[in-house]
Amino acid sequence: MPRRRTPESKAEAPAVQVRAARRADLPEVIALDATVTGLHKADYWQRVYRRYGVAGQGMRHFLVAVAGARVVGFMIGEVRDWEFGSPPCGWVFAIDVDPRARQKGVGSQLLGAMRERFERVGVRTLRTMLASDNPLILSFFRSQGLRAGRLIPLELDIGPPP
Ligand SMILES: CC(C)(COP(=O)(O)OP(=O)(O)OC[C@H]1O[C@@H](n2cnc3c(N)ncnc32)[C@H](O)[C@@H]1OP(=O)(O)O)[C@@H](O)C(=O)NCCC(=O)NCCS
Repeated sequence: MPRRRTPESKAEAPAVQVRAARRADLPEVIALDATVTGLHKADYWQRVYRRYGVAGQGMRHFLVAVAGARVVGFMIGEVRDWEFGSPPCGWVFAIDVDPRARQKGVGSQLLGAMRERFERVGVRTLRTMLASDNPLILSFFRSQGLRAGRLIPLELDIGPPP
């Protein structure tokens, strides 16, 4: 894992604006996702944009962090109500920050912007899930105050054996 952020590197942070994603951002989002995951999923991102980028009615959010004219991060979240026996809560289910822009507060800004949007519609709990073999994302979410919650993920392999 790269070195933690220092007060000096925080001072070098570029001015970053967080806003709703626009269709024109998609090529950069797709490229950023491909950099981080190694997968180029253009169709997937078109679907995400149709569902979260437009007509979200204050409940679905596809946010990008922009430094200058460059997309340096994104986050997707949604308010889901009365699932798992829970009052409306805000789920965050995707986050990526450009490796060149990390440890400068961009991830924190994205989460802060998402939190504000959730709070505006009365949400009082923010949730996410993460892969157990991804200590970086765990460290990030813990730094933002998230702790183990009352839900437990369960899964089952189905279909023919690989
Ligand atoms: C996790 C991630 C979003 C963090 O973004 P970021 O812009 O670097 O985060 P911030 O600069 O806001 O850091 C906030 C805090 O997170 C923690 N953190 C961030 N990077 C860290 C690192 N490399 N090691 C340890 N802790 C780290 C720190 O506590 C940090 O606070 P501090 O700098 O005051 O110590 C970014 O590293 C990323 O996109 N990683 C890949 C994400 C991923 O795997 N996505 C796929 C699954 S959804």
